[in-house]
Amino acid sequence: MKMKQVAFLFLIFLASQTVHSWKKDEFRACDQTPFCKRARFRKPGACTLIAHDVSISDGDLTAKLIPKAPHDQDQDQIKPLTLSVSVYQDGIMRLKIDEDPSLDPPKKRFQVADVVVSEFETKKLWLQSASAEKINGDDGGLSSVVYLSDGYEAVLRHDPFEVYVREKAGNRRVVSLNSHGLFDFEQLRVKKEDEDWEERFRGHTDTRPYGPQSISFDVSFYGSDFVYGIPEHASSFALKPTRGPGVEESEPFRLFNLDVFEYLHESPFGIYGSIPFMVSHGKSGQSSGFFWLNAAEMQIDVLAKGWDAEGGILMPTEQSRIDTFWMSEAGIVDTFFFVGPGPKDVVKQYVSVTGLPAMPQLFSTGYHQCRWNYRDEEDVENVDSKFDEHDIPYDVLWLDIEHTDGKRYFTWDKMLFPHPEEMQRKLAAKGRHMVTIVDPHIKRDESFHLHKDASQRGYYVKDATGKDYDGWCWPGSSSYPDMLNPEIRSWWAEKFSYDNYVGSTPSLYIWNDMNEPSVFNGPEVTMPRDALHLGGVEHRELHNAYGYYFHMATAEGLLKRGDGKDRPFVLSRAFFAGSQRYGAVWTGDNSADWDHLRVSVPMVLTLGLTGMTFSGADVGGFFGNPEPELLVRWYQLGAYYPFFRGHAHHDTKRREPWLFGERNTALMRDAIRIRYTLLPYFYTLFREANVSGVPVVRPLWMEFPSDEAAFSNDEAFMVGNSLLVQGIYTAG
Ligand code: NOJ
Repeated sequence: MKMKQVAFLFLIFLASQTVHSWKKDEFRACDQTPFCKRARFRKPGACTLIAHDVSISDGDLTAKLIPKAPHDQDQDQIKPLTLSVSVYQDGIMRLKIDEDPSLDPPKKRFQVADVVVSEFETKKLWLQSASAEKINGDDGGLSSVVYLSDGYEAVLRHDPFEVYVREKAGNRRVVSLNSHGLFDFEQLRVKKEDEDWEERFRGHTDTRPYGPQSISFDVSFYGSDFVYGIPEHASSFALKPTRGPGVEESEPFRLFNLDVFEYLHESPFGIYGSIPFMVSHGKSGQSSGFFWLNAAEMQIDVLAKGWDAEGGILMPTEQSRIDTFWMSEAGIVDTFFFVGPGPKDVVKQYVSVTGLPAMPQLFSTGYHQCRWNYRDEEDVENVDSKFDEHDIPYDVLWLDIEHTDGKRYFTWDKMLFPHPEEMQRKLAAKGRHMVTIVDPHIKRDESFHLHKDASQRGYYVKDATGKDYDGWCWPGSSSYPDMLNPEIRSWWAEKFSYDNYVGSTPSLYIWNDMNEPSVFNGPEVTMPRDALHLGGVEHRELHNAYGYYFHMATAEGLLKRGDGKDRPFVLSRAFFAGSQRYGAVWTGDNSADWDHLRVSVPMVLTLGLTGMTFSGADVGGFFGNPEPELLVRWYQLGAYYPFFRGHAHHDTKRREPWLFGERNTALMRDAIRIRYTLLPYFYTLFREANVSGVPVVRPLWMEFPSDEAAFSNDEAFMVGNSLLVQGIYTAG
């Protein structure tokens, strides 16, 4: 081949690399994930469970779920499941379904701890009685009805089993589970001789010692035209149907915390964080919500109208409705139904379960300047003084991983950052702060005190054979503290004391990255599902909450240091339901293009709707070099993100706001100054979120619930109730 041809082919190769840089093959699709594939094959009406022994006990409505026709099944493997319905103030119903511990299942299934706040339990209403109700036209079928609030009731239909909440007036349904009979609960059981439970994916073997244990069910939202929530995906705010007539069959929305390199701007694929909470809204102007507290891999289908043409026998037809289908690899059914009826009510109900967003310090609501990496102390000083020179306000300068001694967190590169305390004091003298990065992977280096300490104490997550799990990340061979263990979280928190974190001062705050956790040589760039945590809990059971526990431990560390009066600031990449109590999140490694600017709005709105109000996207786009116009537009939009930070990959050109000519500097300065002008407004909104959960930035329909044109608009949004922002998402 001639040189020219070779060069041409090489160029084509390069072009194809940039267009398709998301490495699809590295990640499992639903049909490569046995539990997801199995569940999606289920047909409406397949569930034959009926509710038996329905009674009131300990203030709950309880029942046993048993198969209607046990002879159809493998009899010794199917045991009754326990069901309980509890009701709480403000119209919240909790439905739990699990294996019966008195029947000796091979293992206790994992229940996510430390997400439901303790105050929630004090809101429990103790049920005294249930009334029996005959179901119309259904040959004597029975339901048990209990009080939920003055306007609402919770209903358990017995045969087939179905649970829903409804308005008392007019019997209108709000949210229901198993109305289509898709419920399935794979019980833990003894392995048969000819069975192979292992799963293989791209050279990785998951030993799956406990075999199949997935759960799936359908959830319907009534009076609804759209559903929203379940971050984190780069996709539209109103969730598009993934299955059904007229829909090009797509992957379900996946919830599995992953470090995805160059994620696409429109995809149901799961990225860094997971919040299994969905909100519905419709022409009625009313909203409702559903939350599944489960930290295993989850997949959720939004079903297009008519998907159930053959099997939708139970459904009342007079109300508009959105059906959804939820699948999880493990765990239990621990679900919460929220009746609304206003959009803000639903968010308030959700945060009464998972906690109110932390109140940030004022400085952290200003502008943050970050880059991978500000090279050394001189670079820091220069960047800082340029802000003053150009009269651009900012509050925080960030240091990425290169500031450490060989990616050993809590240390400093002695050549590049010989005087960390002095550097921070100089910034602090101007009222500014610094943030350094602390990731969960600990370098396996015997001379590194943190590693020595963690390994001697047995604090690392174990692999399936019981040895310290060893994975590859920035420092090379690394291990990961078992953040599920409260003792280990306290140990971690101690590392942030001024004595332990040498070179830190009171104006230093923290950035938690790579906490999905990211493992470069692990299956799907994360930890193997058969790795082991405290009490033999498998990583598969808590995967989506690992980053949450890490964020929690870090925030506790900042709370404990000094006199304990300082409000922490910790930015985290991974998150789970409840992360709002510990700090801020951002949308990870986006790209410097217009589509990513555009999708940042639905992403940030979704986070706010699901409790995580303190969030933002990397201004400018992390990968690639934004043209000046895009950068300016990004500042103009980013000035209204609750979390406002410029950040860039180390391969990009420098892009501080003064590098693109006077006109562009002036535009970026104006954008940042507007943010500062509005700071009291933002701070007030953060406080409103901190006492009510209502997010700082809101979808239009949260303020105008009856305005149908607003339901699927995710280009514009409200900051509080008084300011409407419309971004510009195209060049020119
Ligand atoms: C990945 C993070 O998403 C990014 O923001 C950071 O700069 C790099 N890790 C390096 O720490």
